[in-house]
Amino acid sequence: MINELLNPWVRDLVPYSTARDEFSGEASVYLDANESWYGDGVNRYPDPFCRALRRKIEEKLSIPFDMSAIGNGSDEVIDLLIRMFSAPGDSILISRPTYGTYSVFARANGVNVINVPLLPTLDLDVDGILRTIAEKRPKIVFVCSPNNPTGKVYPIEEIRTIADNNPFITAVDEAYSDFADGFVSAMTLIESNPRIAVLKTFSKAYGKAGARLGLLVSHPDIQKAFMKLKAPYNVSLLSQREGLEALSDEDFDARVNDIVRRRNEFSKYLGTLPYVIKVYPSEANFILIRVPDAVALYDYLLSLGIVVRNRSSEPLLENTLRITIGSEDEMRTLKEALDAYKG
Ligand SMILES: Cc1ncc(COP(=O)(O)O)c(C=O)c1O
Repeated sequence: MINELLNPWVRDLVPYSTARDEFSGEASVYLDANESWYGDGVNRYPDPFCRALRRKIEEKLSIPFDMSAIGNGSDEVIDLLIRMFSAPGDSILISRPTYGTYSVFARANGVNVINVPLLPTLDLDVDGILRTIAEKRPKIVFVCSPNNPTGKVYPIEEIRTIADNNPFITAVDEAYSDFADGFVSAMTLIESNPRIAVLKTFSKAYGKAGARLGLLVSHPDIQKAFMKLKAPYNVSLLSQREGLEALSDEDFDARVNDIVRRRNEFSKYLGTLPYVIKVYPSEANFILIRVPDAVALYDYLLSLGIVVRNRSSEPLLENTLRITIGSEDEMRTLKEALDAYKG
């Protein structure tokens, strides 16, 4: 069933066979990959299949080995999903405001972007999405939950309704899910609906943005296509090590809980500022606010060396700024600046 949805050239693709694909086991003399003999381990190519990391993911996150793949950031996973399932002239569906790279990668691949905007409440327009799926048959529906930049989690039942009524692929981006209280992952839906692909990342809660580690969780048939299409050594040896380290970090829960606690406190604080019109409730590691003049506040903060993100060009988000929850020190500096702002 997944194979029928794949682009035929992806289905038929014979992947590049690396030196390390053709050999498994332990050897004492490696002369098969034109590497340097000299070095501390990084002289060798990395495992193309990230097996140690995926075994650890199975152990720690209970994601079966044959249902996981690692991308060079989840951005690479987004790009590869688009290249697997859509061709130039096809479409994907997104609900703006949302994360920007779905559109950029679609356009870079000659794929059109259909926007079914969020409702004014910033919820998904489920009926509008279902109507558009039936009429325009987009090859991938992207749902980002918790959504960037609104911080909103969409009910899992809505995601199930969309995916079950979508004969093509539904990709659910859960980059921020670790920060969401009582979060139910769309991974729980894959067993009954193999057309669902879930994206996770090591860039947010795991604190490894610089290592570029994204995770695709899906039916093994999607995994097989991903392995064919990706660059042979898409995740560096150093990054694979960073991923293993992140999954062994015993302070992970405490750090995430700390960010969530400080997010909630900061959200309350923002609500006390006279010039803040709205604080959007957030289940992520950032908070979106509306102010009378977002450019003025942005420029003011920048003049003090504090950079936040202006999201005002997004539909429904006029005069909004998105603020990441940083360290205690960073937030203290930001608070001092916000306290002194005259609006
Ligand atoms: C919703 C969402 N998905 C994916 C990404 C990209 O993550 P990665 O660093 O794994 O490429 C981001 C980055 O900000 C994001 O906000």
